[in-house]
Amino acid sequence: MIPLKSKEGIARMRESCAIAATVLHELKQCVRPGISTYDLDQMAREAITRLGARSACHGYQIGSRRYPAYSCLSVNEEVVHGIGSLRRILREGDIISLDVVIEYRGYIGDNATTVPLLPVPPRVAELLQVTEAALQIGIRQAQCGRRIGDISSAIQTYVEDHGFSVVRDMVGHGVGTAMHEEPQIPNFVDRKRSRTDEIRPGMTLAIEPMVNLGGYKTKTLSDGWTTVTADGSPSAHFEHTVLTTEHGPEILTVPPAARA
Ligand code: MF3
Ligand code: CO
Repeated sequence: MIPLKSKEGIARMRESCAIAATVLHELKQCVRPGISTYDLDQMAREAITRLGARSACHGYQIGSRRYPAYSCLSVNEEVVHGIGSLRRILREGDIISLDVVIEYRGYIGDNATTVPLLPVPPRVAELLQVTEAALQIGIRQAQCGRRIGDISSAIQTYVEDHGFSVVRDMVGHGVGTAMHEEPQIPNFVDRKRSRTDEIRPGMTLAIEPMVNLGGYKTKTLSDGWTTVTADGSPSAHFEHTVLTTEHGPEILTVPPAARA
């Protein structure tokens, strides 16, 4: 069952998503050549604490492993779940995906962006533009009466029309009192999930295309978390938490300062 949020739940989601967006916005301003991904993670930790929230990544458990950092920082060929490291110093020409998931008063906000350290090669700049546009195209499909699969198919078509590939091993997801709720939201049409759920008012969905410049395959490094492209090509990741309403999708992960 896909949880539908009550009025109260939606109000809480607005708060948690505003905080997640504020942290992401602040973190983005800190990206520059010479900084380590460890320092960026500490800045995420500080911002999350200052805003009265808690990192939903830190201590997040899969099997017997607990995620050790406060944000996910994934450089170049790293797709997701990169762990900040003092040895990873950002340089011109890198791209870095910043993924911030926070919990505030029992509700989760989840968002991500990918930032270039300019200059980057033209095809890498295009990878970022296409992935961000694919997120917007996916969000536009999040209309009541349509299906989750409409989001998947719109994203996949747009990405592949531009000659890039969509990661299969990780998917978007419902989000609420847990980081991962139903439904799964693949960024590709999945034959196993061909009949997908209908979108109804009150769903909160984390839509998050992960797009590779080369092939779609990925592997996980020996740290048990960092996912990288199998062919070493760069990868981009953009994510918003979106509320579905009768009047269409509403992006919740917008920093308060950027609201109209
Ligand atoms: N946004 C990521 C996800 O939905 C955050 C994962 S937190 C981690 O999977 F702890 F698993 F890294
Ligand atoms: Co997510």
